[in-house]
Amino acid sequence: MDRKVTYEFKCIADCITDEKLDGYRKPAALAETMLQEGSGPGNDYIGWLDLPENVSSQQIAAIQSTAKELRDSIDILICIGIGGSYLGAKAAIDFLNPAFEELRKPQVIFAGHHMNSDYLSDLLQLIEKKEVALNIISKSGTTTEPGITFRVLRKALEDRYGKKKSTKRIIATTDPKTGALRELAVQEKYTTFAIPPDVGGRYSVLTPVGLLPIAVSGIDIKALLSGAAQAISFCSGTTIEDNLSMQYAINRNILFREGKAIEVLASFQPQLNFIVEWWKQLTGESEGKDYTGIFPAILNYTTDLHSVGQWIQQGARNIFETFLYLKKTNTTIKIPDFNDNRDELQYLSGSSFELVNENAFRGTLLAHMDGGVPASIITVSERSAQALGQLFYFFEKAIALSGYLLRVNPFNQPGVEAYKKNMFALLSKPGYEDAGNRLKTRLKDMGL
Ligand code: PA5
Repeated sequence: MDRKVTYEFKCIADCITDEKLDGYRKPAALAETMLQEGSGPGNDYIGWLDLPENVSSQQIAAIQSTAKELRDSIDILICIGIGGSYLGAKAAIDFLNPAFEELRKPQVIFAGHHMNSDYLSDLLQLIEKKEVALNIISKSGTTTEPGITFRVLRKALEDRYGKKKSTKRIIATTDPKTGALRELAVQEKYTTFAIPPDVGGRYSVLTPVGLLPIAVSGIDIKALLSGAAQAISFCSGTTIEDNLSMQYAINRNILFREGKAIEVLASFQPQLNFIVEWWKQLTGESEGKDYTGIFPAILNYTTDLHSVGQWIQQGARNIFETFLYLKKTNTTIKIPDFNDNRDELQYLSGSSFELVNENAFRGTLLAHMDGGVPASIITVSERSAQALGQLFYFFEKAIALSGYLLRVNPFNQPGVEAYKKNMFALLSKPGYEDAGNRLKTRLKDMGL
């Protein structure tokens, strides 16, 4: 098997001593066993573990056939979803497709991941003369952001194509049996795809949540799944030597216990920017609870070296850094020779951008280590669906293990409800009237 993901941590060898590692061998083996046997907290949400091998050929064929129909008939697919119902697809599509929407056919555009009229009105303008379809993605079917966005876009489609024709342009990805979106989809006869009940949002990229938009963008979803299935072999087992995800999970926990409360995942190529966004949600929602958890910060280098790079080099020393590095780009552009050294860059003429970027990476690694930031490196060898499948699985497994090492349930997100309850109360949702009055008084007392 061609392994396309590596994790290199020799550079933090002084922090990760054999003694410290040994201290984690037993708890990590237990965490792995809890996952494999389904005996740990949140065990009703571990369907993602075998997903790469369990997605049936019929399911893949159904997704591919819908994706082909869409690719042949539309200019734009609008995916409406938030959190785990959005980030995995966005990460994959940006990793494997051209940088600019104008170079993608069809375009997959995301909405419903915030509430902003200007964005939506620009989107309505963009789609005016385009052939469009909607993919509403919500496991619960009641999430506010995608829910209100879907209302606007569904109405726009119905106004344009008429009610009957517009239903053929709407695909609902949701719970197989229950929920408001499932009921609506059945009533309106939308095409539907099911999200397995035992897979939570942030672990759902390899279900139709991610697979359909990814396939519509032209990516080979079989290769993505087979990459993830390959990762099972090097991200499983009860020893660090066999299980790459376990190694990363342990290292994070060792550093966290030593006061490094923040992990910075720093990408070095723009194609990786949404993979780190996806990771931010995966780690933040999985670990940040019970008043513990490593705070996930993400940076995009070298861009951010000219922004918060100063902070990373010389700010508070409560961080550790994991570099996410793509080894091989698809193209190579060389720096032109102008026989003119006024910009002091003549010495680079004939060198590729990758050579310069790689040395920026190596230089940054050493500078940050010298500045007191423990650093390690995850590499992905190439921009391929197979490599991405391996990377997705590596991270999912690592964060699940890491959550168990932190002694939290990595598969729930009870804290997310707090803002929702307040928002419902402030918007006078029926049933929330008393709470709404209390909150409004509090805000008034604060002058808000
Ligand atoms: O990881 C999660 O479970 C969440 O981030 C959800 O994906 C997100 O809240 C969206 O939920 P839903 O798909 O029910 O609309």
